[in-house]
Parts: sequence; structure tokens; C-alpha cells
Amino acid sequence: MNFFRKKNIDAMISGAQSGSTLKKSLGTWDLVMMGIGAIIGTGIFVLTGKGALTAGPALIISFLVAGFACALCGLAYAEFASTIPVSGSVYTYTYASIGELFAWMIGWDLVLEYTLALSLVAVGWSGYFQSLIKGLTGFSLPTALTAAPGAVPGSTTYFNLSAALIILLITFLLSRGVRESARINNLMVIVKLGVILLFVLVGAKYVRPENWQPFAPFGFGGIVKSAAVMFTAFIGFDIVSSAAEETRDPGRQLPRGILYSLLICVVLYVTVSLVMTGIVPFAQFAGVDHPVSLALQVAGQNWVAGFIDVGAILGMTTVLLVVMFGQTRIFYSMSRDGLLPKMFSKVDAKRGTPVRSTWFSGIVAAVLGGLISLDRLAELINIGTLAAFAMVSVCVLVLRKTRPDLPRKFRCPGVPYLPLLAIACCLYLMSQLERITWIAFFIWLAIGLVVYLTYSRHRSVLGKDPA
Ligand code: ALA
Repeated sequence: MNFFRKKNIDAMISGAQSGSTLKKSLGTWDLVMMGIGAIIGTGIFVLTGKGALTAGPALIISFLVAGFACALCGLAYAEFASTIPVSGSVYTYTYASIGELFAWMIGWDLVLEYTLALSLVAVGWSGYFQSLIKGLTGFSLPTALTAAPGAVPGSTTYFNLSAALIILLITFLLSRGVRESARINNLMVIVKLGVILLFVLVGAKYVRPENWQPFAPFGFGGIVKSAAVMFTAFIGFDIVSSAAEETRDPGRQLPRGILYSLLICVVLYVTVSLVMTGIVPFAQFAGVDHPVSLALQVAGQNWVAGFIDVGAILGMTTVLLVVMFGQTRIFYSMSRDGLLPKMFSKVDAKRGTPVRSTWFSGIVAAVLGGLISLDRLAELINIGTLAAFAMVSVCVLVLRKTRPDLPRKFRCPGVPYLPLLAIACCLYLMSQLERITWIAFFIWLAIGLVVYLTYSRHRSVLGKDPA
């Protein structure tokens, strides 16, 4: 039993080239739209409130720190995506450069990340949905069904019903083969950017600079702790790398697509946080699940707040579609390699989609979205994501040593220093997360290890056919 058996990179690359029927039609602009479509969601519309409570107005620095760490990881992603342009993301990269056991653990970790991200975005969606419905009709759901147990101090809540229902709706759409088309994505991105600009333009008039004082009430500690949580806001840029096979000139356009979309998001996040904390003293964000529209309500601009609610709901819906799509494709890759049961790569003949695996992910995410609070979800996602992102940089370093000959259309600059810095940033941000999050993460990894030792390694396709 060889824990370090690796996939043959040359076979993977030539298989992707000859087997790929995907049209190479995407350019930098399309990739940037795709990135923004996948990135902007709960992070900016919901977590900014929590971030402001942890860092104060210095939340903008937290965004810069998290964005910097992401950009470093983005360079490593870009090198891999342009060198081995096959599906499966960091799971595949690890399988090719380090070996099966690590690949399995990272795949297992990604399952956690994607499932919880789905739940998180749904919880964010639910906050805005409830605010919109209440604004339009005056109707509110029974309190017990508005949030996870213990999520709202002072209220008895049992289950976040609308979060669970939106996940099931997305599951239904995806299982029917509804794929978000580039055109719908572009439209949603424009709506998202539109409401964000509307917020900034209208909100800027109501900013009172005295609300920015004190700027960093919780010091450096608060800033980095908030950066570790706000990291969620950048998740999704890795999805851009999955379009490697469909990009016209991946060597040039992929890194640009990744880095430009990150840059645009950083600028938007910083501007929105400045305006938000300028309108509302940060302490008032406690217990608020729709902080961006709340800021406009405080400013007396209720009709604009209504627009923001609609834009946020549509924006988060696209993130849900992309994340769920990504989740089932990771399952698909791992199952095709024999590491997960065949059910996860079984494609329904009529619909052309992995129906069972989509429903499996959807039901699990819906239950978790109903039962776990937003803060806890964000921490758990980030620990998994940071571990995966650090791994990509490790893989870049390993592959540069073991396969220096591979043609790399894009080379991460500053090797080994920048990947090492990326790893250090990820580990540092991980260290800022709470102990309970670490414990949950280790329990998850331990379960993964047991599954690997008792099931996956015996069924691995690579183990049966090392060629
Ligand atoms: N980056 C995604 C969001 O903020 C997960 O919703």
C-alpha cells in the first residue's frame, strides 16, 4: 500500500487535451466576470457586520490582509491551473505532485469547505430574504424558524427554514441540469455590482467621519481575527482556475482573471466597509444579519435598502449555484478515482447530471444550514479553505523540484519565497481561528483518515492499475 502513489501528470495533461471537447472560448474579461460571480456574496452582504464588530472601522485593513493572502495563493493556483489544466482543483494537483493520501485528505477537506460554504451562503441569503419579505408585506416567519438554535441571543430559534429551502431549490435546479449560463452569470454580476455602487453612492452622503473613531478599537488582534473570518469573502476565486481547459490563452489570461477579480473585490469590499462603518457606529451591527441594507435604513433610505435586498438575494443565489456545482464536481473526481463510492460519479443518463450526488450534497447542506449559526460556519469554512490554499503553494514547490521540465504557461514569481509567504499567511490566519474550530477540523480530518484507511485505499483505481 503506497500512500504516496501519484497520478501520471503527462497522461493527465494529454488526456485533458485530447479528451477535452470544451471550446476554448474564454478570455480575461469572461474569467473576471466568472470570478466576481463566484466571489461576491455573503462575505460582503452579511459578514461585514460581524467583521466590523471584531475589528471596528479597521475592518478595511482586515480585508486588505485577507485579500493579500488570497492574491499570493492565487499566483500558486494560476501556475497549477496553467500547467495541469484538468478538473478537480487542488485535489487533482495534490494527487499529481504529492500523492494519494494527501490528495484524499485535501479532497475530504474540500468536501467540508464546499458543503459548509453552501450552508453559509444560504444563511446569508435567508437574512436578506426575511428582511425583504418583511419590508414588502409586513409578514415575518415564526421566530423559531428564522435561525439556527442559539443564533439569536435572547430568542428561541430552532431551524433556519428559508436557508434550508433555498438550498433544496438550488439542488433541484442543478439536478435538472440547469447550469448557470455565462449570460445569466454576467447579468447577475452586473446586478451585484449595480447594487454595491448604488449603496456606495447613496450611502456616502450619510457618512459621519466621527463614526470611524476610534479606528481600531480592538487593536491589531481584532484586525487579524477579523481577517481570518473575512477570508470567506474571497472564496470562489479558485473556481476561475477550473476554467483552464476552456480558456484561449491560459498562461496569460488565467492569472490575470484570478488577480483582477481579486483586486476588484478588494476595492469593493474596502469601499463598502468604509461607507457602512461611516453611517452606522460599528457596535450597532450586533445581531444584524443584513448589515448593508440596515445601513441605508439607518440613513432613512428605505427604498434603496429594498433594492440592496433584492440585489443581495440574486447575487447570493449565483454563488450558491457555483458552489454547489463545484461541490458535486469534486465528489465526481474523487469517485472516478475510486476513493469515494461510485454513486458520486454516476451521471443520470437522461439529465446528464450527477443527480444522486447532487441531492446528497444538497440535503446535507440544507440540514446544516438550518442548524448551524453563521459565525460558526464561517470559521469552519475558513480553516478548511486556508488549509487547501496552503497546500496549493506546497504543491507548487514540490512540483518545481520533482518536475522542473514540465512546460508551465504561467510561472508563479518569486519561488520559493512567495509560495512560502503564502503558506505562512494561511497558517497565521488559521491560528487566529477559535479552538473549537480547530477541534472540529481535526475531528473531520480524523474521520477522513479512517475512511481512507478502511475504504478508499483499497478501492483506489490508481492502486489497481498503477500504470
Ligand atoms: N465568497 C463567497 C461569499 O462571500 C463564499 O459568499
